[in-house]
Amino acid sequence: MNLVLMGLPGAGKGTQAERIVEKYGIPHISTGDMFRAAIKDETELGLQAKSFMDKGELVPDEVTIGIVRERLGKPDCEKGFLLDGFPRTVAQAEALENILSDLSRRINFVINIDVDQEILMERLTGRRICKSCGATYHLVFNPPAKEGECDRCGGELYQRADDNEATVKNRLEVNIKQTKPLLDFYEQKGYLRNINGQQEIGKVFTDLDSLLRGLQ
Ligand code: AP5
Ligand code: ZN
Repeated sequence: MNLVLMGLPGAGKGTQAERIVEKYGIPHISTGDMFRAAIKDETELGLQAKSFMDKGELVPDEVTIGIVRERLGKPDCEKGFLLDGFPRTVAQAEALENILSDLSRRINFVINIDVDQEILMERLTGRRICKSCGATYHLVFNPPAKEGECDRCGGELYQRADDNEATVKNRLEVNIKQTKPLLDFYEQKGYLRNINGQQEIGKVFTDLDSLLRGLQ
């Protein structure tokens, strides 16, 4: 099962990815998570990525493509993968075609979680994430049972550095511009499937799951 999850910032990629990888046992490859881990570890990659992420800009293609190429070559990806937040430009999508062709693989579906732009600001500024296990919550739409504490592991919840209003605004602008050509690229290849991301979290997963069950 070789999948790409697309959607504007806040569409619910990470939220649904958690559920997909739990059910289907494929690795979750989120370029955003990889950059955040590198920033935390203060590596060279982290230093490079931080300046772009803080402004809500895209990290340059060469850097991003390099880390995905390396990750997809790891043995755990032989059983499949779920790419989340990559590709984000047509250049990245073309590079991904080459990487997969070198590995004699192909994408099954590019799933676009479709949500109106207007509701994304509220989703992102209200998001909270567990420091220990990475689970995603929302103050209003998906609150933890106990304020500030993860339901799964009891870890402390925090707000992402780029989830403030000014950065979110730029992230949305940057991503809206890149999305249309990317959707056209995958539509032409016949990979694209749209899912209504404006339903309740469980219902979005039910729709995704009916699509994925067909692949098994
Ligand atoms: P990344 O980490 O990928 O962030 P993003 O694309 O901005 O997406 P988010 O993680 O913000 O949103 P999501 O769709 O996962 O939403 P979530 O499920 O959390 O990228 C961050 C940065 O890294 C980029 O800005 C860029 O600088 C860099 N980067 C990453 N990849 C790159 C690439 N390929 N090229 C270049 N640069 C790259 O949900 C959001 C909130 O809504 C949560 O609180 C959740 O609980 C809630 N929610 C989810 N679903 C629902 C629902 N159905 N109803 C109500 N609430 C919901
Ligand atoms: Zn947790």
